[in-house]
Amino acid sequence: MKKFIVANWKMNPETLTQAKELFNLVAEGTKNIKNIEIIVCPPFVYLSAIQDTKYKIQDTGYLKGVALRPYGAGKIQLGGQNCFYETNGAFTGEISPVMLKNMGCEYVILGHSERRKYQKETDEIIRKKIESALSVGLKPIVCVDKLSQLETLKKIDNWTIGKLLVAYEPLECIGNGKACDPKDAEKMRIMIEKEFGRSIPILYGGSVNSQNAKNYVKTAGFSGLLIGGVSLKADEFVKIANTLIYS
Ligand code: PGA
Repeated sequence: MKKFIVANWKMNPETLTQAKELFNLVAEGTKNIKNIEIIVCPPFVYLSAIQDTKYKIQDTGYLKGVALRPYGAGKIQLGGQNCFYETNGAFTGEISPVMLKNMGCEYVILGHSERRKYQKETDEIIRKKIESALSVGLKPIVCVDKLSQLETLKKIDNWTIGKLLVAYEPLECIGNGKACDPKDAEKMRIMIEKEFGRSIPILYGGSVNSQNAKNYVKTAGFSGLLIGGVSLKADEFVKIANTLIYS
């Protein structure tokens, strides 16, 4: 199965200049990596500029004077970190799936534990968002920390296997350097597969770094990784992407 690596920048960095710099470093560092879907999810406000940067790199074939292969930054996919379930209208502060799609995003992270915690998103709200994202051709990366949160997928009308990804992110392992025991993560992966079949890519997320990355992909059998804190360090992120090639 294809492998995936997702950079969840969360509410970082603070300036557009830093965001473009980070994206450029990731593009440069991963230009020779094939067969892995690299998905960068910046804050909404940077998406447009990063999309422009991406195409500039792709069109000119050059980045900071370094020749890029045609599959350079062009193959990095962009994703949103969230979206609303309505398409447009009087919903102050919200961003719709169709806006993300029109901005060139292929993916959207939904159900992240930080949104469940701080924005009080429920499984029902997340289900509506997943349906809405699927309806415009965005691929949801659905984050869960327990199996019951996936029950909601069974209610999705236009549910089509292969159009979404699941990220198992145990709550107690997010953002604190305490990654999950790969054996426990593997048990969860197997349970998810039993429930939903083997054609859904299942990613692991929670304190992934370049040292522990292969434990989840090679040893525990995940199809990829969702990376938060470490995705802000281009060199570490690139190292992890390289680890996936050999996992
Ligand atoms: P972390 O975040 O890698 O910083 O633990 C993962 C996530 O929240 O998606």
